[in-house]
Amino acid sequence: MQNDLNYLDRNEFNFTPSQEVIDAINNFDIKKLAFYTRIYDKGKKSIFSEFLSELYNIDESQIILGYGAEDLLKMAVHFFLTQEDGNKTIFIPKFSWWYYKSIADEVGGKTLQYPVNEVEDTFAYDFEGIKAMIEKETPKILLVASPNNPTGNGLTSEELEKLVQMIPSTSIMLVDEAYASYVSSDISYVREMIAKYPNVVFCRTLSKFYGLPGLRWGFGFIGRNEQMDRFSKYANKYLGYDRMSEEIAIAAVKSDAHYRDIANVMEEARQMYTKEVGALPGFKVYKSIANFILIKYPIEMKEALQKEFADQSYKVKFMNEPDINTHMRITLGRREQNRLVCDVILKIAKGYQK
Ligand SMILES: Cc1ncc(COP(=O)(O)O)c(C=O)c1O
Repeated sequence: MQNDLNYLDRNEFNFTPSQEVIDAINNFDIKKLAFYTRIYDKGKKSIFSEFLSELYNIDESQIILGYGAEDLLKMAVHFFLTQEDGNKTIFIPKFSWWYYKSIADEVGGKTLQYPVNEVEDTFAYDFEGIKAMIEKETPKILLVASPNNPTGNGLTSEELEKLVQMIPSTSIMLVDEAYASYVSSDISYVREMIAKYPNVVFCRTLSKFYGLPGLRWGFGFIGRNEQMDRFSKYANKYLGYDRMSEEIAIAAVKSDAHYRDIANVMEEARQMYTKEVGALPGFKVYKSIANFILIKYPIEMKEALQKEFADQSYKVKFMNEPDINTHMRITLGRREQNRLVCDVILKIAKGYQK
């Protein structure tokens, strides 16, 4: 524990790891660190990519690994925005992780936001709007986040397919699926999409569903063509990865059931927030399929909410972005944490009703 503060502001993990993960750490054989980890004889990147390849029935050459999803996203954005065709345009969702623009800026990219519209209690992708933008200015990268941070909404595989069909094969669709394991453990649509479309990159992570943001493991799945093969080489670590964290990563993915139980606790929390906070005048709880929930609150309560959370040693994220600045993004935590956060909101709202 870092200190006594409850961090519900960065979409981290407030639960215990699986027994398999604990065992992998406790039983790690230190002698293994005396060697590089690249599997030269088999031409494979890592025991982790080999494990994922078998688990998901995806060719190992179509798996990429990185230091968190942030690393995969950065490598992809840097690589594809600096190709010989000179196309430096990236499209990102209107409400999304600030980091996308920041990594595009690092290589002189031109970032354009495509429309995502608030419809009832969710945010809908404006497919016609995106299509019109693509016709006007072909992006090199169409970035899609599913589920999206901070809005919490996602896309179906049919919708993803509809989007990839809008771009030319020289462009890529980069899908940030950092939170996708909350939706399902079934990634057969990813397998099908990378088989059908050469120009898609999916990025995932062990930081969210598998609760290991401190481990820094990201993994991705890529289509296959000449450009993608060069990207795969670019992303690869020649001498391999960190052996200890490879073993921890495998243990985490193997203990899916443990993390699925935790995802169920989060589902209870979503229902609680929707029922209790959603019923308060001036509040709106958005549908979420990730490990956080977005709540709109009456702006006049901002200071009182901030003070009460601080008094309780809780941190939640108060959004400041344009058009989404009367909103809080709250990480879903343990039952007692969720209850306390809900009670804080109810208490402050009640004070204003008098
Ligand atoms: C949408 C999104 N993508 C990627 C990441 C990065 O995750 P990682 O820890 O794997 O770098 C985050 C982290 O909060 C995120 O919100």
